[in-house]
Amino acid sequence: MSAQAYLRNCWYVFAWADEIGAAPLGRTIIELPIVVYRGKDGLVGLEDMCPHRFVPLSRGGVADGVLECAYHGLRFDGSGRCVLNPLGDPPEAARVRVYPVAERHDAIWVWTGEPGQADPELIPDFGFLTDPARATVTGYTYAHADYQLAIDNLTDLTHVQFVHRDYQASEAYPRLEHRTWQEGEDVFRAITFPNGRPAPFFAGIMDAEKQIDVTMETRWSVPSLVKLTARVTEPAKPEAYLMGNDSAHLVTPERPGACHYFYAHSRDYGVGDPEVDERVREWQRIGFGEQDKPILEAQQARVRDRDLLKMRPVILPTDAGGIRARRILAKRILEEDRGAAPAASQASVDGGLIDR
Ligand code: FES
Ligand SMILES: [Fe+2]
Repeated sequence: MSAQAYLRNCWYVFAWADEIGAAPLGRTIIELPIVVYRGKDGLVGLEDMCPHRFVPLSRGGVADGVLECAYHGLRFDGSGRCVLNPLGDPPEAARVRVYPVAERHDAIWVWTGEPGQADPELIPDFGFLTDPARATVTGYTYAHADYQLAIDNLTDLTHVQFVHRDYQASEAYPRLEHRTWQEGEDVFRAITFPNGRPAPFFAGIMDAEKQIDVTMETRWSVPSLVKLTARVTEPAKPEAYLMGNDSAHLVTPERPGACHYFYAHSRDYGVGDPEVDERVREWQRIGFGEQDKPILEAQQARVRDRDLLKMRPVILPTDAGGIRARRILAKRILEEDRGAAPAASQASVDGGLIDR
């Protein structure tokens, strides 16, 4: 492992926006305990530890628009200053570290690095999540697995044929086409299952004998943010769109060997239909919670705290995207560790094809 395990100067997803209502929410990301609350200063992120006796501030509540510690009632505002001591003047020394917070794409993002570099424009585009013409279902799971294993999982979707076989296995798998390319620091992968009958997932949605192409394209962005675009088209006619969905797979490291996984599925069919919502929610719960997660956790138990790439893994052509992503992230972490941190965009710019 590098001396520094995570990129700090970047936005991590802390929560879905609807997770933070009247009560504060505490969560550890990149080993930093953080509390986020909605107060009179808007959305506030603070270190989740009271400077008095170090109780998590997330155990308290929002009072008069500021955060009140559950233990002795000191209150802290959005600047991290103590603004109320129930028994006297607020002590000047009672200060809490402030984390920049942004609400975007229906998610709450926290910047863990230099506050002065916290520009919400660096958050990659997941605009489809708030498109009113679409139906979006979100979810969350916690995995006892390193976030980099989750990135590997998301940047190599050939696993759907096996891990999610009951939903997504395709007879076209032996003919799978795949390619990897890069735009700026974003790594793209596309896999196409050409000319096969619909996988079990489409039962009841599509004629079981119809021949289709299914393409899944992933865009990985620093540090661990994946957009997945799935398209069903007529065979050999990528422009002949039949149906599809976009999904977000936003992974946030919690500590070595554990991560938060925020996922969202957005569709352009069945909008406003709660039964379809429920079907998607159930698939997400099973797919990520009962299929991906146990694989990642079992893998973690074998890899332990070792660097997977230093274990001399067998490399398959389909690993191209995952390896590219790991290298880009490792380079960014190293640059940051050396103090050369470029405030490079988390969003993509230009780039070129690296593998077809
Ligand atoms: S521990 Fe927070 S007020 Fe005492
Ligand atoms: Fe999966």
